[in-house]
Amino acid sequence: MNRIKVGVIGATGYAGLEIVRLLLSHPNVEIAQISSVSYEGKKLSEIYPQLTGIYEKVLTNDAVVVEESQVVFACLPHGHAEPIAKKCFDQGKLFIDMGADFRLSKEEDYKQWYGGQYEEKGLHKAAVYCIPELHRDRLKNAKIIANPGCYPTSISLGLAPVLKAGIADVSTIVIDSKSGATGAGRGLALNTHYTECNEGFSPYKVASHRHTPEIEEVLSGIAKQEVTVTFVPHLLAVNRGIVSTMYVNVPPDATEETIRGLYEEFYKNERFVKLLPAGAAANLKNVKYSNYCHISLHLDNRTHRLIVVCTIDNMVKGAAGQAIQNMNIALGLEEAAGLTMVPPAF
Ligand SMILES: NC(=O)c1ccc[n+]([C@@H]2O[C@H](COP(=O)([O-])OP(=O)(O)OC[C@H]3O[C@@H](n4cnc5c(N)ncnc54)[C@H](OP(=O)(O)O)[C@@H]3O)[C@@H](O)[C@H]2O)c1
Repeated sequence: MNRIKVGVIGATGYAGLEIVRLLLSHPNVEIAQISSVSYEGKKLSEIYPQLTGIYEKVLTNDAVVVEESQVVFACLPHGHAEPIAKKCFDQGKLFIDMGADFRLSKEEDYKQWYGGQYEEKGLHKAAVYCIPELHRDRLKNAKIIANPGCYPTSISLGLAPVLKAGIADVSTIVIDSKSGATGAGRGLALNTHYTECNEGFSPYKVASHRHTPEIEEVLSGIAKQEVTVTFVPHLLAVNRGIVSTMYVNVPPDATEETIRGLYEEFYKNERFVKLLPAGAAANLKNVKYSNYCHISLHLDNRTHRLIVVCTIDNMVKGAAGQAIQNMNIALGLEEAAGLTMVPPAF
């Protein structure tokens, strides 16, 4: 069978590099072209020497990527995806955006949180937001896929079963998330500077992070009513991984056993979501470098508060792996193709 030609725009960034790394082991695709603005004409292996002798492709520009690919991943900062999506859409190619440009259904939310506007409104109507375990049916005939944010993925997977069951108080949910430094991308910034973050631990963008409207939109869709959350992200001085701890008020008669039953039922057919046994707590080191998501459940019987801990690798299930999972579904490939790597123990 001919391999599907896939292109990566913004391949020098962390998300782009991770897509390249995973695609190199994918059984059904070949990487047709990769691009960069700053490093056009250089090999990706000159920027990332771990690719030396393994992958020596020269970076080109985005026009060549679109021209020569059947599937295009855009791994760019928000605000750059629309024109590329339009070209792909007009040429009938599958476009997958790693950024936030197609994630929010309401333009006013995008304006408020990202300060931009939707120039190509038709494209936004056509775009499909998809966390596969929650929305995979949406991908039939999709031509533009909005790949979810890393925090929203960990939070939505962690809360979906209890929200769907209608037993959560949807106005008092508190979410405390911690992300490794790759979540901020490769660009230099003071807060991810080694001496600034090493041995430190602090929240940032408290109750004002841009992922908030995406989180609320996904959770409201599952709960079928408006959900508002208090979301506090933290920068954790590790390279990769997200731990989201969610505090949810549940009725006094809810037991850990019933809630566990809801989660078991919800995820019984899901390959990548693992519910940990009672008493265990999810740990980011157990999902690193993999597309797996671990969830642990803890019920505080004194306060009738359910505590859900959900952990993913922000670069894989929170970005590149989930994008490949979405591509696989949209193309009718095996959903786990190229994503079966087992997390290492250390
Ligand atoms: N890191 C994560 O954990 C994560 C998770 C989920 C989603 N995402 C999303 O994925 C996207 C990429 O994130 P990242 O972490 O990979 O960021 P990054 O490491 O900063 O990489 C950004 C890429 O975009 C290119 N770029 C930067 N400014 C550009 C411009 N003005 N025009 C065109 N290209 C430009 C850069 O490459 P050149 O200068 O070489 O062209 C680089 O390849 C973002 O939208 C981010 O929100 C990231």
